[in-house]
Amino acid sequence: MSRVCHHLLSRCQQRCLNPDAPQWLSISVGGDEMKSLELFTGAGGMALGLERAGFNHEVVVEWDSDSCATLRRNTRWSVLQVDVRSLDFTAYQGRIDLIASGVPCQPFSVAGRRRGDSDARDMFPAFLSAVRAVWPKSILIENVSGLAGPMCHPYFEYIKLQLGHPTFEGISMRHGSDTKAG
Ligand SMILES: C[S@@+](CC[C@H](N)C(=O)[O-])C[C@H]1O[C@@H](n2cnc3c(N)ncnc32)[C@H](O)[C@@H]1O
Repeated sequence: MSRVCHHLLSRCQQRCLNPDAPQWLSISVGGDEMKSLELFTGAGGMALGLERAGFNHEVVVEWDSDSCATLRRNTRWSVLQVDVRSLDFTAYQGRIDLIASGVPCQPFSVAGRRRGDSDARDMFPAFLSAVRAVWPKSILIENVSGLAGPMCHPYFEYIKLQLGHPTFEGISMRHGSDTKAG
């Protein structure tokens, strides 16, 4: 896993930071095209960068209608306009190289109250449940520095623990999607 992540990171940097990089440069491990899922896609900034880095989005998910209209107008991606929490991702199990996610940052932002997992807009449980269902080779999360700051630190540690042990559904923080350890 870490070798694949390192490989992806260096290829992404190579492609994203170098505008003269050849357009045919694509990322592959073992010769296969790299497949990705993007959650909380917004207007597609990160998704576009990943596509330019060589990823092929199987599907991008976003619930905001204006964002989805923007994505449909400007890309050929398969755009799913739904609440990420309503999706069952098991059909993608074992087929995805990367789950990229612009998990909403309002619960963690220094511009807000930083209520973390007590904020109804916290979508990390939905992200973690997608990771558990899909078993991607790698993940990429875009968020704000407040997530790693002192107020949200315990929750950040919890998220890292969950990602480090994806088969362990864990101790419930607050959300129903995380079941108690059996
Ligand atoms: C931080 S933005 C993502 C920005 C994006 N990565 C980009 O590069 O433009 C988070 C997005 O998540 C969407 N969102 C929030 N909750 C959602 C949910 N439950 N299901 C689907 N989309 C959601 C919001 O509409 C918003 O567009």
